[in-house]
Amino acid sequence: MVKKAELHVHLEGTMPPALVRQLAAGNGSIIDPTTFKSETEFAWNDFWHFLDCYDKAAAAILTKEDYRLVTYDYLARCAQEDTIYVEMFSSPDHAAEVGMSYADHLEGIAAGIEDAYKEFGIIGRIIVTCVRHFGPERALKVAAQFVGTPHPYVVGFGMGGDEAQFHPKDFAPAFRLVSEAGYPTTTHAGEFGGPESIRASLKYLSVSRLGHGVRAIEDAALIQELAEKKIPMELCPGSNVATGLYNDRRSHPFRVLMDAGCIVTLNSDDPPFFATSIGHEYEKAARNYYLSDKDLGNITRNAIFASFCDDALKEELL
Ligand code: ADE
Ligand code: ZN
Repeated sequence: MVKKAELHVHLEGTMPPALVRQLAAGNGSIIDPTTFKSETEFAWNDFWHFLDCYDKAAAAILTKEDYRLVTYDYLARCAQEDTIYVEMFSSPDHAAEVGMSYADHLEGIAAGIEDAYKEFGIIGRIIVTCVRHFGPERALKVAAQFVGTPHPYVVGFGMGGDEAQFHPKDFAPAFRLVSEAGYPTTTHAGEFGGPESIRASLKYLSVSRLGHGVRAIEDAALIQELAEKKIPMELCPGSNVATGLYNDRRSHPFRVLMDAGCIVTLNSDDPPFFATSIGHEYEKAARNYYLSDKDLGNITRNAIFASFCDDALKEELL
């Protein structure tokens, strides 16, 4: 079985409906019943509705122990699919929405990483993210917390959320703060925004990776630039199909980007929302993009090279 590595998954988006309900039953939080379509499915019908559904599910995480369990549960599932390394986006803004401190949210996630490592040998690391549609001021606050609270498992900073809101340059102060403190960054760009969103993110935020970046496919010069500059792309084919960006996996340009020399990786994004997993992404990519085990192994190597962990750990993983 090919070993796998994942760089783009939202921790609050890893909970299956059963885990959301289990947490709510344990901590007394009330989850809006419209969050679910069925016992096993979330209810959403477009990207913006998905973001709203994500917020409602995330509201089930109330305590440090909840974060520990969510992290452990996800890494345990990844380990069963021969995954050796996962970089998870955490959202202090979602924690703050339910009154949890930045430190508590990190401590809970770190405990989950340690438990999963002890039991399965899988390595997890954290990318702290701000949320674009919450605005530049909140992003700067998260960046300041990030810089002021170093943690051995926190390896980088990122931004998710609605790419149509604000302009990348509005977030330059937050990203500058983080970069000047020596941390690498990534942002969602070229998911629902076009090539200009990718160009602006590279220009104003100096990110070293792209969350998605798939819409670079609309601009041949940009594809060439990404390939030449070796900017890794956190591609998420299952997510892009689920949110309606492409009609089906065959229409997704994963293979075209790979063949153009881009540094591509495979990721699940928000697995239960998009009926996927990291193992499923590898399996479906192999079939739809005619990837050999050698290709899949290279994709895993790309992810490890592009990861934000330290060099000693990269060597251990390679
Ligand atoms: N937050 C969680 N999932 C996301 C996605 N796919 N795009 C942007 N923000 C997100
Ligand atoms: Zn994402």
